[in-house]
Amino acid sequence: KKLKIASIPGDGIGKEVVPAAIDVLHTVAELHGGLTFEFTDFPYSCEYYLEHGVMMPEDGMKRLSDFDSIFLGAVGDANLVPDHISLWGLLIKIRREFEQTINVRPAKQLPGIQSPLVNPNDFDIMVVRENSEGEYSSVGGRIYRGEDEIAIQNNVFSRKATERAMRFAFDLASKRKGRVTSATKSNGIVYSMPFWDEVFKDVAESYPNVKTDQQHIDALAAFFVTNPSRFDVVVASNLFGDILSDIGAGIMGSIGVAPAGNINVNGKYPSMFEPVHGSAPDIIGKGIANPVGQIWTAKMLLDHHGEEEMGQVLLDVIEETTKNRIITSDLGGSHSTQDVTNEIINRLKAK
Ligand code: NAI
Ligand code: MG
Repeated sequence: KKLKIASIPGDGIGKEVVPAAIDVLHTVAELHGGLTFEFTDFPYSCEYYLEHGVMMPEDGMKRLSDFDSIFLGAVGDANLVPDHISLWGLLIKIRREFEQTINVRPAKQLPGIQSPLVNPNDFDIMVVRENSEGEYSSVGGRIYRGEDEIAIQNNVFSRKATERAMRFAFDLASKRKGRVTSATKSNGIVYSMPFWDEVFKDVAESYPNVKTDQQHIDALAAFFVTNPSRFDVVVASNLFGDILSDIGAGIMGSIGVAPAGNINVNGKYPSMFEPVHGSAPDIIGKGIANPVGQIWTAKMLLDHHGEEEMGQVLLDVIEETTKNRIITSDLGGSHSTQDVTNEIINRLKAK
């Protein structure tokens, strides 16, 4: 089996952690035997913009559509290009045009890493975020000026997109601990959230083996901090999922370890895998960027293409590496990007 992957290192530390994760994926392929990766590098980035006046060429999306998946580092270098131009011209463009309507983000306690939580209790959560509508809609506007000025932003919840996110969450839970928690706020938001609850109930009926509960987003956010081990899969709207998944990254101890996948559910376009962190301009070129977020993201890519067994091996090796405290400075260690990558590769080779 050959997987054709478009790699977009992007800006800043993306150029440091993507090559590291690609080395790891090649090692995974060797270990597997029957799997090969063919990476094609795309230079789309802020530097590309300075040279060409666009973040990607006109046929960029068409070229990317030929790949099985996209493996992206980070986009954004505000010293070169304003963020709204670079992110909307590349990252958000890909998410929208390739209908990557679901965003999945794990948050799991890594052995050996001190979570900032008082009582972390071995949490292992998957946040499934509806990635295409909800609170982040373009319906609304601004009227009047001065003290009469009004800004209106409508929430849009379609049955299709809501159901799609929930089915994704239930399917995922069926392969995990079998529990889905719905993030709601139907006590305060009186149209969209009661609708969200109804769809949740409807979808739950077709998954009798999955346990369910629902929590209001405010309480849920608090439980992420006080008792994260009670959760398995959490399904949330675009805004709620955005916030919850960042809390998830926070309780792991560093944004540098948090992975994410933008999933095209219908298989019409490639999905895109990228870590949660950005280009980290403050640490570029120092060789200290944590590669774990990008490497864990590679595990999600493996899972997505049905290589769950190899995905698990890779996660095991990441956990052995943190347990042995081969970690970068953001996690309180003193190892380099290359040290951590080598450790992971050597441990894979020893499997
Ligand atoms: P950031 O995630 O790049 O950095 C925040 C802090 O976390 C910094 O102190 C950084 O050094 C640290 N950090 C991040 N990743 C790390 C890693 N792997 N290892 C060690 N430390 C790490 O967020 P920031 O500073 O808000 O944004 C910088 C640029 O990145 C901006 O242009 C922003 O628009 C862009 N960005 C891009 C994202 C993407 O491509 N998905 C996501 C977030 C930001
Ligand atoms: Mg966010």
